[in-house]
Amino acid sequence: MKIPLLSALTLIGTSFSASAFAQSQMPINPVAMVNQFEATNGKFDGYRRSGAKGICATGEFTGSPEGRALSSASVFSGKRIPVVARFSVGGANPKAADNTKSQRNMSLQFTLPNGEQWLMGNISAPIFGSATPQQLMALLAVRQPDPATKAPDPIKVKAFNDANPEVLLQGKYLASQPVPASFASVNYWGVHAFGFTNPSGVKQFGKWIFEPVNGTQGLSDEEAKEKGASFLFDDLRQRVKEGKVAFNFNLELAQPGDQLDNATVPLPEGRKKINLGVLKITSVSEDDKGACLTVNYNPMVMPKGVEPSNDPMLSARAAPYAVALGRRLSEGAKQ
Ligand code: HEM
Repeated sequence: MKIPLLSALTLIGTSFSASAFAQSQMPINPVAMVNQFEATNGKFDGYRRSGAKGICATGEFTGSPEGRALSSASVFSGKRIPVVARFSVGGANPKAADNTKSQRNMSLQFTLPNGEQWLMGNISAPIFGSATPQQLMALLAVRQPDPATKAPDPIKVKAFNDANPEVLLQGKYLASQPVPASFASVNYWGVHAFGFTNPSGVKQFGKWIFEPVNGTQGLSDEEAKEKGASFLFDDLRQRVKEGKVAFNFNLELAQPGDQLDNATVPLPEGRKKINLGVLKITSVSEDDKGACLTVNYNPMVMPKGVEPSNDPMLSARAAPYAVALGRRLSEGAKQ
């Protein structure tokens, strides 16, 4: 069935139920997707449509011998690779509170020799909140506030969640964790599987995690309340000044039979983990400034020696990110 994509939401509202759309394979128009982000989460001119409250930082990455054995990518050479990082709080609101159990993000741009780049947007949960772009589109559509009540219709939301239980897993994970004490003290997962090919042509798939070298650190509910709604930027500046912000870039190795095409399914527990190198954050920009401001962290950009898995959520990110970039640049990029 080929249906013009801008009518996807009309379909959800009429003959085609949101859950049927979520299970469909209808191609998603990236403009319609970004429109839906704005309709559901709010539109804040100049800001990213997701991870809006953010700060730019720079750093360097040094690859390990294990990384070199796994992949021929130049990022693992062992030479220092410059990185443009962006830390952010989940959601579209540039004034989102720092002291709640919401998502934190760490986006990275590795600037590699010979014009190569590696771009990634990592999140503080091992899984994402939807498995396919169709499911994400439908999830956002059912959560769009009703103009009369200014809130989503709870009956539609419940029906959708009951039919798509995996969309609740990420929220459950975040609710089970303390509020992160710092951008520097939480794990960040890549969520999708990626393939790594070594100089002899051997390919290994895995899912990565950036783990703070000094360990994770959370706040009690009382401490979180005392911190207030905006402490993460200054906290990061302080920790970077003290030279304390570094992450191990670790890869969990997939085994035959592991599911690699679903961002709501982590690898089974106990998979072997190897260290690909260390990322050190060395400077933090002033608010609303810095090299990350105009970077589009499109996770489909990667160096030779690394390749995408066939997770449909991964390839579906590229076009909406470009649409969102175009919008915020033309509105005057603010963060
Ligand atoms: C089809 C699926 C997805 C869509 C349509 C989507 C859409 C977006 C959009 C529009 C932005 C704002 C980009 C900008 O303004 O520059 C964004 C940011 C972001 N997304 Fe997604 N996203 C998807 C899946 C995911 C997944 C699976 C992850 C988990 C790893 C993720 C992590 C992030 C992060 C970390 C950011 C902030 C990037 C930054 O700092 O610029 N997204 N997403």
